[in-house]
Amino acid sequence: MPDKKTYYITTPIYYPSGNMHIGHTYTTVAADTMARFKKMQGYDTYFLTGLDEHGQKIEKKAQEAGVTPQAYVDEIAEATKDLWKLMDIQYDDFIRTSEERHMRVVQKIFKQFYDQGDIYKAEYEGMYCTPCESFWTATQLVDKDGEKVCPDCGRPCQPMKEESYFFRMSKYQDWMIRYIEKHPDFIQPASRANEMLSNFLRPGLQDLCVSRTSVKWGVPVDFDPKHTVYVWIDALSNYISALGYMTDHDALFRKYWPADVHLVGKEIVRFHTIYWPIMLHALGLPLPKQVFGHGWLLFGMDKMSKSKGNTVYPGPIVARYGVDTLRYYLMREMPFGADGNYTNESFLTRANADLANDLGNLVSRTVAMIEKYFDGVVPAWDENAVDAELDLPLRDHCAALPALVEEQMNKLQFSQALVEIWKVIGECNKYIDATQPWVLGRDPEKRGRLGNVLLTLAECIRFVAVLIGPVMPHTPARIFEQLGVTDEGLRTWESLSRFGLLPAGVKVCKGDALFPRLDVKKELEALAAEKKAEQKAAPAPRKEEKKEAKKAELPEGCVSIDEFFRCKLRVAKVIGCERVQKSEKLLKFDLDLGTERRTILSGIAKFYEPEYLVGKNLVIIANLPPRKMMGIESNGMILSAVQEKEDGSEYLRVLTVDGDIAPGSEVG
Ligand code: MSP
Repeated sequence: MPDKKTYYITTPIYYPSGNMHIGHTYTTVAADTMARFKKMQGYDTYFLTGLDEHGQKIEKKAQEAGVTPQAYVDEIAEATKDLWKLMDIQYDDFIRTSEERHMRVVQKIFKQFYDQGDIYKAEYEGMYCTPCESFWTATQLVDKDGEKVCPDCGRPCQPMKEESYFFRMSKYQDWMIRYIEKHPDFIQPASRANEMLSNFLRPGLQDLCVSRTSVKWGVPVDFDPKHTVYVWIDALSNYISALGYMTDHDALFRKYWPADVHLVGKEIVRFHTIYWPIMLHALGLPLPKQVFGHGWLLFGMDKMSKSKGNTVYPGPIVARYGVDTLRYYLMREMPFGADGNYTNESFLTRANADLANDLGNLVSRTVAMIEKYFDGVVPAWDENAVDAELDLPLRDHCAALPALVEEQMNKLQFSQALVEIWKVIGECNKYIDATQPWVLGRDPEKRGRLGNVLLTLAECIRFVAVLIGPVMPHTPARIFEQLGVTDEGLRTWESLSRFGLLPAGVKVCKGDALFPRLDVKKELEALAAEKKAEQKAAPAPRKEEKKEAKKAELPEGCVSIDEFFRCKLRVAKVIGCERVQKSEKLLKFDLDLGTERRTILSGIAKFYEPEYLVGKNLVIIANLPPRKMMGIESNGMILSAVQEKEDGSEYLRVLTVDGDIAPGSEVG
């Protein structure tokens, strides 16, 4: 028998700097869903997740908690495994970077880089952001209230000067650019590939500082033990150390590498599509087939994160509504790749509409009618009672459904795959309205017709039950029980190769509603009360956390005045303005901000002649991170008002100030 095809999928290994929230759950459920789907299709799958336990951030957290880093991460590792159990995550391995098996491999990898000349020793002088575990050059930092802060998270960076090892990233830059250009599927969605090329690779890769002497909680460099390995080099290696790479037990590595896909949040695409591929190439290994950078679950308009204190945890939601409802919501609500807002309201509304109404009603109506009209026994197909116009389109659509779902799943478009399934559910509900079984039931001569309608519905439900399994692992068994499908062979992917396999004669059994209808208002109140109780039970937050918590309590859609003032609005006088070559949209502004000159690009070329704007006092946002467009760095944004006209076109005017005021004046 030929070997089964393999499928290796990973999540990022998360920082155990606090308990995992719904954002981490999102990636993990996505990976689990995909692994289950491939397993259902007969692939030999391997699904890896775990924790990234080293680094200064964890060292600090443990210190605050008054425990050793190891004790600190041990506790969170247990809580994380419990959470994945609750979410019904079927991982094959849970790697922790403080494990011996991982650390030994990192040491060997580091040594190999050193021996082959990819790593050299020098003096590092620069800035370091501890929460992001990232190095920045002075020019990359952004200004916030006179302080230089991290361009990613906006928090202060610390100066760092120490003897370090450096990885010659620059040596691989051209190879990396060519690789990405030649492999359009490597980075998905494709827009993220362009971002990597234009923001990081084409402007030039700097050698990366890959060791620290000031961090003790890390993997020691074995040939120079006062150094520990930089956390990202340590963490990225997990994807191969977990498979036994560079050990005597490397069967998993030989079987599963290269990974089919690394699922990661968009903020760490850079590490996975530049540093990690270069590391692998330097080791002479093939690259993962794909890195998919998905979007963020937002809370309000903010990224949900432990440090912002605006987190939602899965525990209370699962306790109230069940794990399948939460998994369904996460996979359905936003297209994989885009950002989406989590609100209790959208969760409850979707649960009611899609699960209680569409799916739940379909199953309960169908089973109830089989009980009522056929004493609970699924009727046989009657060739003489076919209504080609009504039956065939639904049967054909349902027969085509597995292929439609597969197509979307292979693109990791979970939401779209569910949309396809729900189209069939919707069509079934319409089919009931069109065939009116309750009318057929009154006429003994229409018994054959009624039987065909109910058998068609039951078979469609069987298809749906199999296909939702990867997203909702508990629901199929509950549906099959009600439908009387005891034969395991009818619960498989293969059994969907033909429509009409559900045999007559099986006995249905009406059970509880699959998804009881929720009273949205009542549930919102209950969830809010639970959140309050949870906050009361939590230890008093420190000053910084209090500020953030206050923000989280704001009515939805509101910003606090503090948040507003984080935006630095300034008057800027236009010294020069010109069109950007080869761009229809962009104007390049040379601006006077009183104490400095700035270049800002703005996509307003179709609304103005550049000369008209020279000498005007505009309003800009001055503290946005720099952004490169058409090879030119833009440092801020020009504010403007846009009106949508009746014919659908737009009319735009820039914001100016009334009267002459010194450039650089604050606006607010
Ligand atoms: N330890 C690194 C990853 C190393 S991988 C070799 C790290 N850890 S993390 O704890 O910050 O986790 C980040 C990942 O968690 C994101 O990339 C994403 O997969 C997931 N998410 C965390 N918050 C999220 C949202 N609010 N929304 C969506 N995903 C989120 O970075």
